[in-house]
Amino acid sequence: MTLVYPGSFDPITNGHLDIIVRAACICDKLIVAVGNNESKRPAFTVEERVEMIRASIGDREDIEVTSFTGLLADFAKKVGARAVIKGLRAMSDFEYEFQMALLNKKLEPELETLFMMTSVQYSFLSSSAVKEIARNGGCIDGLVPDCIRERIARKLTCR
Ligand code: PNS
Repeated sequence: MTLVYPGSFDPITNGHLDIIVRAACICDKLIVAVGNNESKRPAFTVEERVEMIRASIGDREDIEVTSFTGLLADFAKKVGARAVIKGLRAMSDFEYEFQMALLNKKLEPELETLFMMTSVQYSFLSSSAVKEIARNGGCIDGLVPDCIRERIARKLTCR
């Protein structure tokens, strides 16, 4: 079974990585799909985000990292995914994710949305928080994968 894990990943955090590794255990193939939500005014380009995810995952045949434009439901159908998987941190994520899941179901009735609870140590973590800390010169150790920490700090503190 193929699952799609979509998101902005601007940038990937250790919370995302935790979901990626755990989600890959319950499917044959996981496609991590970077969506370009311009309304969020991303700090990193889609290419940078894809590269950072690839660097964080390392060489794994069961995980593919790519980007998509347009509707998630169309993308998921195109790649033959049975379901979309999303991470849930707290009740605050629920309303938005619930709406997205129902919209995607309306668009593509055979596509399921699965939710995976974040590990408790990452329940406070978000890409926005990482960016705010990095922009203000704070320490992002332990919040993002080590191999991309310098890259994030360099890009955000030079702005
Ligand atoms: O959780 P995120 O990071 O905000 O997710 C962003 C993303 C790209 C997954 C989401 O915005 C998305 O699915 N965009 C594609 C457009 C779409 O299909 N929207 C749902 C129906 S309105």
